[in-house]
Amino acid sequence: MSLVTRFSAVFCVAQQLERVRPLAPGETVGRATRADVPALLEVARRAHGSGGRSRETLEQRLDRGLTAHLLRQNGTPAAYLWVGRGSYSIFPLRLRLVLPPGAGYVFDETTDPAFRRQGMLGKLLASAWQTEGLDLGVACIATSNVASLAANGRVGFRPDCTVALSRWLVWRVHSVRGPHGASVGRFHSLVRPGHNPVALQCAVHRDGLRDFRLAHDAEVLRPRPGAPDWDAGMDRQ
Ligand SMILES: CC(C)(COP(=O)(O)OP(=O)(O)OC[C@H]1O[C@@H](n2cnc3c(N)ncnc32)[C@H](O)[C@@H]1OP(=O)(O)O)[C@@H](O)C(=O)NCCC(=O)NCCS
Repeated sequence: MSLVTRFSAVFCVAQQLERVRPLAPGETVGRATRADVPALLEVARRAHGSGGRSRETLEQRLDRGLTAHLLRQNGTPAAYLWVGRGSYSIFPLRLRLVLPPGAGYVFDETTDPAFRRQGMLGKLLASAWQTEGLDLGVACIATSNVASLAANGRVGFRPDCTVALSRWLVWRVHSVRGPHGASVGRFHSLVRPGHNPVALQCAVHRDGLRDFRLAHDAEVLRPRPGAPDWDAGMDRQ
């Protein structure tokens, strides 16, 4: 029986942004507040359909210290992205990303289809870099998401490693490949009944792309009973 790949994504890293377009007349961008949740939902609905994001999910993210950046064009919400700091569980990959101070995990980048290809992503990232004081950004992009790989690549995000999650019976396998496709490692863990714990810890160090490391974390593999699993559901959305 062969392994079935469940999900495969590229970790892209940017130390500084490049080729960001200036804001056009009528455009504003900045960190979103709770009052902006309806505007975020409006963009999400146009981009992902009505079931794509819920108000509760977005409010929970804000409550947990995640930040959103929102771009409006002549008052109309056009695009947003989210930034997480510290440690973040990437649910589809069943791994936890651990970032150094100064680094941000950029996720749920979304531009309303009517506003795409206008450089919105770079403008949002510039807002995040400046407002959050970032000196390193990490994005995790599905291997199949050509538009996102291109858009993030254009503004400075370089592929660092690709992680493919496969499953064989009760074994989960994370296969990691470097930017040029060479195998970096394979990590095996046991799939548990019920909620799937995060199986790998992925630490990014400040000193450049080569220090992006994946490693088993025994503590993460055996979460303490009753410990809050604050981010387990987030990336399901
Ligand atoms: C990915 C996404 C956020 C990009 O947003 P965007 O605001 O349209 O991106 P930008 O206008 O800033 O893109 C800048 C550059 O990226 C590249 N690019 C963007 N979309 C592209 C596409 N569909 N195909 C090829 N290249 C693309 C181009 O080089 C583009 O510059 P150009 O228009 O001058 O050629 C948007 O496509 C989106 O919302 N997709 C659905 C949600 C999603 O997949 N999010 C990413 C999760 S990781």
